[in-house]
Amino acid sequence: MTPTQSGDDEARDARIDEVVARILSRQAQALSSTAGQDRSGDAGAMEREARAATRRVDTSASDRADISEVEYRQVRLERVVLVGLRTTQSEEEAENSLRELAALAETAGSRVMDGVIQRRSLPDPATYLGSGKAKELADIVRAHEADTVIVDEELAPSQRRGLEDVVDAKVVDRTALILDIFAQHAKSREGKAQVELAQLEYLLPRLRGWGESMSRQAGGRVAGGAGIGSRGPGETKIELDRRRIRARMAKLKAEIARMEPARRTQRGARRRGGVPSVAIAGYTNAGKSTLLNRLTDAGVLVEDALFATLDPTVRRARTADGREYTLTDTVGFVRNLPTQLVEAFRSTLEEVGAADVLLHVVDAAHPDPVSQVEAVRAVLSGIEGADRVPELIALNKADLATPEQLAVLRTAFPGSVALSAKTGYGVGTLRAALEDLLPRPSVLIDAVIPYSAGSLVHRVHEEGEVEREEYAAEGTRLVARVDEALAAAVRAATAPRADE
Ligand code: GTP
Repeated sequence: MTPTQSGDDEARDARIDEVVARILSRQAQALSSTAGQDRSGDAGAMEREARAATRRVDTSASDRADISEVEYRQVRLERVVLVGLRTTQSEEEAENSLRELAALAETAGSRVMDGVIQRRSLPDPATYLGSGKAKELADIVRAHEADTVIVDEELAPSQRRGLEDVVDAKVVDRTALILDIFAQHAKSREGKAQVELAQLEYLLPRLRGWGESMSRQAGGRVAGGAGIGSRGPGETKIELDRRRIRARMAKLKAEIARMEPARRTQRGARRRGGVPSVAIAGYTNAGKSTLLNRLTDAGVLVEDALFATLDPTVRRARTADGREYTLTDTVGFVRNLPTQLVEAFRSTLEEVGAADVLLHVVDAAHPDPVSQVEAVRAVLSGIEGADRVPELIALNKADLATPEQLAVLRTAFPGSVALSAKTGYGVGTLRAALEDLLPRPSVLIDAVIPYSAGSLVHRVHEEGEVEREEYAAEGTRLVARVDEALAAAVRAATAPRADE
């Protein structure tokens, strides 16, 4: 990492810390002034709020600015304000979640100005936040001249519109934000097609009203070009856009389907060569790429940004005793990875299902690594074959984690290995643990073992896979798959002696 990069990272982290602290302290003040008055469970009050919100939607609709053209895939995120609901979470969980949202927003290229957290058991059906909080949010948005509000959840289309009407700024939900980041980082043709498909799937049910809300963007920042489905709210236009989107989706699906066999062939070729494979998975920013670089000399892009890696990278590595294996870096995971994306990246994630070992990299210095492990496992549980793959947990960033953090994680994940991909600490231990889990290589032998070496025949049966066995005059003919050491023993026992 260059000094500038690390300077930028530090500035970004400091900014996030400052904003998160401000949001939390504001929430703490609000809580102490309304102690014991959590009205969110009160159905009557919620209904009143919802009705009031609906009225507001109606009146403000007439104030709408002109509709401009918008390119959905280039949702510009500039000065943003974050919004979260604290339902059942603890204070710490709420803080982590906010911090992650801030990091995601900055990764998407925006500047986080401020935010609002509301404690409520359920989101408001019309405006997500309760009416008082929504007004407070509108004030904050105005004060910072923010152009975008990012909500830490997936919003119903009507909630998004309702909230936009109150705050008079563009409202983007967590799913759209993650899709936007993936769109910015996709490099390969297949990755790009998959992300676009996921975006269109997200957009299709939300077409109505998208154009209206997008019109709030300042004209100059709006990307021109062939904007998809966002020009105007007219019914005919929406229908036309829907048809165009469906046609585009069909085309993308066909394109992806055409690319899949190539990927499968590559994977098949690697496996047929008898080379064992390791898939590296983990939460975004856990250090997967850094570890891959440590284990090989891959020179993969390492960035302190979320989702720096989108397309799988395959590299070859060698065990201490010289056996070859492949390492595949997979896509970064996040909590609530949008379902459209899980679907889109299914073929990439299939790498995990087809691997011999899953190397699950965890950021041990993160405030809540256990939830991150669970988030990754939740996505993988939907991938065929992934449950059969042995998992090795790498507790990375041991240089930053405290001994207590590491001890807790070692207990939570027995068999895990603590290491630092950055300093190299523990990498040898990890490598040894990994090599232990690799399947033994199979060497095909076709040999006639003399009857005098009966114990060797026994060993082949015990340790190898016998494909054919015949009894000949000179001995037992075995066609079998064995490891290198046993193959050498068989060769020695069957080699013609010098005096023959
Ligand atoms: P995604 O592409 O988002 O999935 O990230 P990743 O899991 O591939 O993480 P990456 O390797 O890009 O590392 C993220 C950040 O963590 C970078 O700034 C790395 O330098 C840093 N990092 C990785 N491993 C370590 C480590 O062992 N110690 C410390 N201190 N930092 C680390």
